[in-house]
Amino acid sequence: MGVLAQCVLLFLFQHFSTGFDFYEGGFNNGQYTFLKADPSLNIEKRSSDPDVQADSAHIRSRRSTDQDDCMSLQGFDTKLDNNTHTHIFDDMSGSVSLAWVGDGTGIILALTTFQVPLFMLHFGQSKLYRSEDYGKTFQDVSSLINNTFIRTEFGIAIGPNNTGRVILTGDVSGSLGSRIFISKDFGNSFKHQDLPFNPMSQILYHPKEPNVLLVISNTYELWLSEDFGENWWKIHEMVCQYKWGTDSTIFFTSNLNGSCNERGMLELRKTSDYGKTIKTVATKIFSFGLGGKFLFASVMTGTGTMRAIHVSTNQGEDWNIAQLPPVGHEEFYSILAANDDMVFMHVDEPGDTGFGTIYVSDDRGTVYSKSLERHLYTTTGGDTDFTNVTSLRGVFVTSVLAEDESVRSVVTFDQGGEWLPLQKPANSNCESTARDPDKCNLHIHAAYSIAMKLNVPMLPLSEPNAVGLIMAHGSIGDDISVLKPDVFVSDDGGYTWLKALNGPHHYAILDSGGLLVAVEHSAEPIKTIKFSTDEGQCWHSHEFTSDPIYFTGLASEPGARSMNISVWGYKDNLLSQYWVSVTIDFRELLTKSCEDQDYVPWLAHSDDVSDPNDGCMLGYKEKFQRLRKASVCWNGRDYEINKMPTTCPCTLDDFLCDFGYYRKENSSECVEQPDLKGHILEFCLQGKQEQLQTSGYRKIPGDKCAGGTQPERKVIDLSRRCGGDLLTQEVQGDRHFTSSAPIVVVVIIVLLLSIVAAVLLIKKYVCGGRFLVHRYSVLQQHAEAQGDGDEPLESNHTRVGNKTSFHEDSDEDLLE
Ligand SMILES: *[C@@H]1O[C@H](CO)[C@@H](O)[C@H](O)[C@H]1NC(C)=O
Ligand SMILES: *[C@@H]1O[C@H](CO)[C@@H](O)[C@H](O)[C@H]1NC(C)=O
Ligand SMILES: *[C@@H]1O[C@H](CO)[C@@H](O)[C@H](O)[C@H]1NC(C)=O
Ligand SMILES: *[C@@H]1O[C@H](CO)[C@@H](O)[C@H](O)[C@H]1NC(C)=O
Ligand SMILES: *[C@@H]1O[C@H](CO)[C@@H](O)[C@H](O)[C@H]1NC(C)=O
Ligand SMILES: *[C@@H]1O[C@H](CO)[C@@H](O)[C@H](O)[C@H]1NC(C)=O
Ligand SMILES: *[C@@H]1O[C@H](CO)[C@@H](O)[C@H](O)[C@H]1NC(C)=O
Repeated sequence: MGVLAQCVLLFLFQHFSTGFDFYEGGFNNGQYTFLKADPSLNIEKRSSDPDVQADSAHIRSRRSTDQDDCMSLQGFDTKLDNNTHTHIFDDMSGSVSLAWVGDGTGIILALTTFQVPLFMLHFGQSKLYRSEDYGKTFQDVSSLINNTFIRTEFGIAIGPNNTGRVILTGDVSGSLGSRIFISKDFGNSFKHQDLPFNPMSQILYHPKEPNVLLVISNTYELWLSEDFGENWWKIHEMVCQYKWGTDSTIFFTSNLNGSCNERGMLELRKTSDYGKTIKTVATKIFSFGLGGKFLFASVMTGTGTMRAIHVSTNQGEDWNIAQLPPVGHEEFYSILAANDDMVFMHVDEPGDTGFGTIYVSDDRGTVYSKSLERHLYTTTGGDTDFTNVTSLRGVFVTSVLAEDESVRSVVTFDQGGEWLPLQKPANSNCESTARDPDKCNLHIHAAYSIAMKLNVPMLPLSEPNAVGLIMAHGSIGDDISVLKPDVFVSDDGGYTWLKALNGPHHYAILDSGGLLVAVEHSAEPIKTIKFSTDEGQCWHSHEFTSDPIYFTGLASEPGARSMNISVWGYKDNLLSQYWVSVTIDFRELLTKSCEDQDYVPWLAHSDDVSDPNDGCMLGYKEKFQRLRKASVCWNGRDYEINKMPTTCPCTLDDFLCDFGYYRKENSSECVEQPDLKGHILEFCLQGKQEQLQTSGYRKIPGDKCAGGTQPERKVIDLSRRCGGDLLTQEVQGDRHFTSSAPIVVVVIIVLLLSIVAAVLLIKKYVCGGRFLVHRYSVLQQHAEAQGDGDEPLESNHTRVGNKTSFHEDSDEDLLE
């Protein structure tokens, strides 16, 4: 039995890991689900800690020095007591799902489902509650949905653009179709609609048109409605994956005569007129993904089992092969983050290593530079710590698997150019396990730790309108600790950190960063909420109830502009069981609206004001007006961040090395590959052959620098057709990768050697109508032949895990 169960589980995992490339991460879209905790879970009991950490050493100007006493907020208890609203739900359900309907409306829907699993069927009943005042009071509106059993796993589908659209998917056992409940008035009224099919997942709204809906049925049919669910129309059968693109385009993969399990046999199709005409844009597809302006497809390479990424920037009309290593059956690709300028791509390592390599793309998505090796990303669960720090441009945090299998955090401040360990907070000491008690780093817990069931209740948190702020769980040492984590705060986008709270907490950012709140994550009932008005330096405790509750989570309006926070939990005793939400309005605490003198200017990414290039990131610097730490006031809902950008003069660091060029260690200059001197670069992009005249430099995607150093570069359109058609080409040539090591070592060299490809292959194959993949495959042999003895070509800044080779103080090789 045990063995069998394990096999089944393994199979499931395996299936998940090989089923898709291009995993997409979740994010706070305003939906929360709270579950009653199993008290036997490994939540540690805690002795009472002092709530407030003394901030002993102030190392940055952002940190004011007169805050140690933390006494400036007297009498807040009565003010908050007067603004605390408790709502009790007479409801036995095991879970509650919340959704914010609209922005700034204060409308929340709460759905609870009580179900009894009986054999294969579920019987149950749902209750729906609605609040119009940010959760202070709720009405039971279950009658609007006739107490129908709602599929809570599909969640509450909220429409785009504050249009007040809501869809709930009902589970009407016994009938052929399904029933949805739809509302156009922010959930004030619902009407039901019977579907001619059973949906397999949540209904997807068109990103802009709230009346256009798309969903897949449990028989793999793709259905569309143009009138908000009244009439449905079957677009296609045997659909495997589907997504909304830009401009009303729908992309989907299908396998008309087969099944979706035959990955690598799928066709990628698109329709721009809601299914009236359908066009096949690529064949032999394994999986596809969208990120920024890029459309990616992993395509089988000829006869073998390897697949490679192809990329299109014009909605699948033309394709180029991405210069990334191909992967086999057990490996995967993942788009970690993408915008219109570039993409972060993870390529899994062969074998079950649990790590891979991050590559960053150029602005066409075709040429990649190695950014980080040994990047932790499990094959089994698809978990990675990769996090876009949305509160400061260019900052990303993730973790690497060191040679000794320990997990360590790294941060980049220049969009993947260079990765560094995180600085140890000045007010904390290294763990006793650290080899050197004075030299250790901060390590951040993210999705991987949560997947490993460590006591980490929340992911790192940052908000675009709370400039520079990051809240995260972490530990201080040589690597990440499995012991109880603490909460750390950074107010400068991750350059410096402060230990803010002892032990695991749930936290939220309110009022655009003017207010932070946290509640301890504990197995015991709680009654205290902590808050800080100075970006996490001083914390105050407030008892929001006299009757402690089992805490399940915090809920606040997405966008971090609210000053209302709801503490959700439940009471559980012999006689009764019920859900409780306590909503606290902090508006009165902050007393006044912020004025000009409450703000101070702050230059992002700055460490040396005397340097004219200080604060420059991707060609420009941004000066923000940020709230003074000592100011206790409200930014308000309408608070706008003023970025005051100024363009920086270009330096060589604003450029990547072009094809055939590389940087020597500790140098910004790109030097030409000796054996490629004097060759003319021709290459094939978007099906057109182009000639490149370069002095070796290519601007980093998204870099906005002007003036200064401007190396010459010219692309000449030779107006000749060449490869790049994923429809008609017979993609040939397995790449015969034998082991992982050569691939990793070789990729950079491959990029540098692209010139060989141009010279040797364009004329021979590519423009002879074959696919670009040949170029790469021949290159591979070249590179392998040269790779072994050719050390200097190796990228010098990403050997993470090899402790000695972090180049903490070098800033050349930007994005190399
Ligand atoms: C609390 O609210 C009541 C009425 O709503 C008001 O009379 C009282 O002054 C308030 N107390 C404080 C401390 O604000
Ligand atoms: C949705 O909002 C965006 C930007 O806020 C706007 O461009 C678009 O026209 C809106 N669409 C609808 C249907 O209101
Ligand atoms: C609930 O049931 C009543 C009576 O059967 C029906 O008239 C009403 O339309 C139903 N409401 C919804 C939202 O399905
Ligand atoms: C599917 O089958 C039809 C008829 O049997 C055939 O015409 C079509 O080419 C097949 N399509 C694929 C993709 O194999
Ligand atoms: C990271 O997040 C910011 C803010 O949301 C966004 O503007 C940026 O495009 C993201 N970067 C990438 C590479 O996805
Ligand atoms: C907090 O909730 C109240 C309604 O109860 C609302 O009027 C107020 O605007 C909310 N505050 C913010 C900042 O959203
Ligand atoms: C590059 O700089 C680092 C740190 O300054 C130094 O340790 C290393 O030796 C330098 N390498 C070369 C080749 O100069």
